[in-house]
Order: sequence, then C-alpha cells, then structure tokens
Amino acid sequence: PGTMRGLADRRDFLFGVAVASTDLLDPTASKILQENFNLLVAENIMKLQYLRPSPTLWNWRPVDDLVNFAKEQRMKLRGHTFLWHNQNPPFINRLGRNDRDQAITILEETITGVLTRYKGVFYEYDVCNEVIDDEGRFRENSPWYRAIGPEYIDMAFHTARKADPNVKLILNDYNNEYKGTIKGDAFYELVKSMVERGVPIDGVGFQLHLMAEHPLNEEALRANIQRFRELGLSVSFTEVDVRIKLPVTPEKEAAQKATYESLLRIALEEDVSCFVMWGYTDANSWIPGSFPGYGSAHIFDEKLTPKPVYFAMQEIL
Ligand code: XIL
Repeated sequence: PGTMRGLADRRDFLFGVAVASTDLLDPTASKILQENFNLLVAENIMKLQYLRPSPTLWNWRPVDDLVNFAKEQRMKLRGHTFLWHNQNPPFINRLGRNDRDQAITILEETITGVLTRYKGVFYEYDVCNEVIDDEGRFRENSPWYRAIGPEYIDMAFHTARKADPNVKLILNDYNNEYKGTIKGDAFYELVKSMVERGVPIDGVGFQLHLMAEHPLNEEALRANIQRFRELGLSVSFTEVDVRIKLPVTPEKEAAQKATYESLLRIALEEDVSCFVMWGYTDANSWIPGSFPGYGSAHIFDEKLTPKPVYFAMQEIL
C-alpha cells in the first residue's frame, strides 16, 4: 500500500510523531521517521527546562538540528510548548506571588525570542499546555498562574500573535477530548471565552494519552470536535498513545488496535488538522516511567518492528 508518509502526503493529511534528538542521528530511527511521518514535534528539547535553562542561556542548537532535519525531509513542525507547569528551569519554578512583573517579562521574552528566531518555521505551537486541572479549574500549581494569575493565558497568546502573525496558536491539554466530562466541558468553556474576548487562539490540542482498557467514546469525541469547529477553531490530535496494562494479551492488543483505528478514522472524517503520536516505538517510550505497570503503547515494538496496528492504520490512510 505504500509508505505511511506517502499515503498521508497523498491525502494532504498531517501525520506526525514526537521525537528525541537521538532519533535524528540514528540511521534506523531516522529511516522510520522519513518513511512514515510528514510532521515532527520535539518530545522534550523545546520545553523551557532545556530551551532556556537560565535567564541568559538559550539552548538553540538541538532545536536548530530538528528544524534542519525537518526542512531536509520536507516535514512540518509543531512547537511544544511555552507555558507549562512541568519541565521548567529553576528561575521559572521559583516565581511566586510577588514576582508578577518579572514573570510577565520572562513570558514575553521567551515567546518572542523563540517565535522571532523561528518565524514561519512552525506550522502550529502549543502556546499553553495543561492549564486546566482534573477538577476543571485553573491549574494552580503552575508558576505562571501563581505569579501572574489566570490572565497569563491570554497574555501568552497575544504575545505569540504579535511575534509571528502566521503560526497557528494552540491550547493543548489531556482528558479534554470528550464533550460531557468535567474537564472536557471546562476546557471548552475556557476556549469559548477566549474566542469571545478576542484572544488570538487558532485551535485546540487533544493530547489523547489513552488506555486500551477504556473503549473510545466516539460519539463524545466527535461532538467535542464539532463544537470547537463551530467556534471557528481547528482541532489537533497532539500526543496520541494507547497504553496497555501489562501483561499484554491478544485481547488487549485488539482493543488497542481498535482505539488507534477509530482515532485515525475520526481524525480523517472530522477534518482534524493533524494526528501526532507521542513516540513511535516501545523501545523508547515515556509510558513505563510515567505509568508503572503499563507499556506497549506505540505502533512499533521494542525491536522497531511494526505491529498489526501499524498495518491497520495504513489501510485506513
Ligand atoms: C513527556 C515526555 O515524553 C517525557 O520524556 C518527559 O520525561 C516528560 O514529558 N504531556 C505532555 C508532554 O504535554 O510534554 C509529556 O511528555 C507527556 C504528557
């Protein structure tokens, strides 16, 4: 049926993956990237902990390498991410209630710095990540919230728009994919109010870190996509993986396959703007470290062999 990338290109569909810098250097990994994806996102190197480890230090080199690789391979790029509560450098983690002005300066310098250097490079950017907590309230354990208050979100989008008028500005989160859930609805209400206030947001990201044991609620997902589209926004699937509670059994693998298939079908049918997987191989996966007892979440196994789910997705594409 042709390579996954060829299929995606043919229907003008952005099919992407999160990568580490080592993927670009390793010949086997880089071949897999070239044959399968037309969109890349940095798994870690653009997070502020790495990109701006101290106020005066900018770690551009690894990002430049990624940008050059993508250019050579004619791939698009997503940016991930400016304002998040995790993976920040100490000078940002330290920000407290009395540091509002300083925090605003750091916010503006960081966003403007990146989008000026990489003007026109990123197709879209996760301006803020995971701003809503599991109860549907603003996440309070974020240095940005602590120092600035909830306005930090609007500020970030305005700053980004000013720095690059063309990059699509995205609000990204997890557990926000279903209409009719506490977090899904709170996320929607926040985005709706941003649109109504004239904040320059172009789209939303559903991370979609899913579990094979929970069947996908297709109806609630489609309804959610549709209500964001009605606001005039795009929807991206930004960090797809479907983890399995170990040990892996044929039944669980079948359930995982069904979830990946439905997600891809929905993405194509609902005109989702990109489908990005948070890693392609179990050989190098964030899942076992972050969800003990879970694994086998990706479409290539530990030996970099494509699994049945890979071929099933190829059929759909
Ligand atoms: C994860 C990376 O995959 C890990 O390597 C890192 O140690 C922690 O962060 N939501 C996000 C991603 O938005 O940035 C996270 O990535 C996974 C959850």
